[in-house]
Amino acid sequence: MSKVMMGVTMSLDGFIAGPNDSPEHPLGEGGERLFEWYSSGDTEYTFPASDMVFKISAASADMLRKVFSSLGAIVTGRRTFDITDGWDGRHPLDLPVFVVTHTVPHDWIEAHPDAPFTFVTEGVESAVRQAQAVAGDKNVAVGAASLVQQCLAAGLLDEVHVDLVPVLLGGGVRLFDKLGPRTIELEKAEVIDAPDVTHLTYRVVKPG
Ligand SMILES: NC(=O)c1ccc[n+]([C@@H]2O[C@H](COP(=O)([O-])OP(=O)(O)OC[C@H]3O[C@@H](n4cnc5c(N)ncnc54)[C@H](OP(=O)(O)O)[C@@H]3O)[C@@H](O)[C@H]2O)c1
Repeated sequence: MSKVMMGVTMSLDGFIAGPNDSPEHPLGEGGERLFEWYSSGDTEYTFPASDMVFKISAASADMLRKVFSSLGAIVTGRRTFDITDGWDGRHPLDLPVFVVTHTVPHDWIEAHPDAPFTFVTEGVESAVRQAQAVAGDKNVAVGAASLVQQCLAAGLLDEVHVDLVPVLLGGGVRLFDKLGPRTIELEKAEVIDAPDVTHLTYRVVKPG
């Protein structure tokens, strides 16, 4: 059955970007350390819609191939969209993208008429439902912190995937922020101990 999952790279102290992220520093100050595992191995991974080539460990490459091939659509937030300039209209995974935002960027849409991007102003749940409709029996990936928080709070997320990097960033964009005092139970599904990163996958336990 199709799943709603999240997948991000996170520092051991819980940040997915350092402070002051911007188009010049997409992962914030010092945050580029998070993605060092993408170039520290000897196995090549090439994205379907980008000339970007990762050099990662064989274990990480197996994991990425499995996860990425399971996806049918991506839901992201407006800050990530702005910081990447919408990947210039084509996500590296060549998938339809749903951007949750308060305002539709009409100029960008005019400049990228063929981009498979949908701007959703009715909130996260609507974006996830629209992404699921397009993804069919494939999974939907939710990226960026604010959306992960809202999906967890709304019980929309089935799986949490974190690529955990052994560094303490000390500040920036915190992944599991603003969730309030509630307890959310997770069930360990898989741990892959790659050389420079630990890939952690958990199922979200739904209440009741
Ligand atoms: N380490 C990783 O693997 C990884 C992966 C992805 C992203 N990142 C980083 O994460 C950071 C961005 O994450 P973020 O959590 O700060 O921002 P985000 O989720 O990308 O975007 C947040 C913005 O989305 C819009 N939004 C969110 N929820 C909404 C709702 N319910 N209704 C309407 N609009 C809504 C709002 O923008 P508007 O009000 O302007 O519309 C909000 O300010 C960047 O630094 C990015 O580089 C890291």
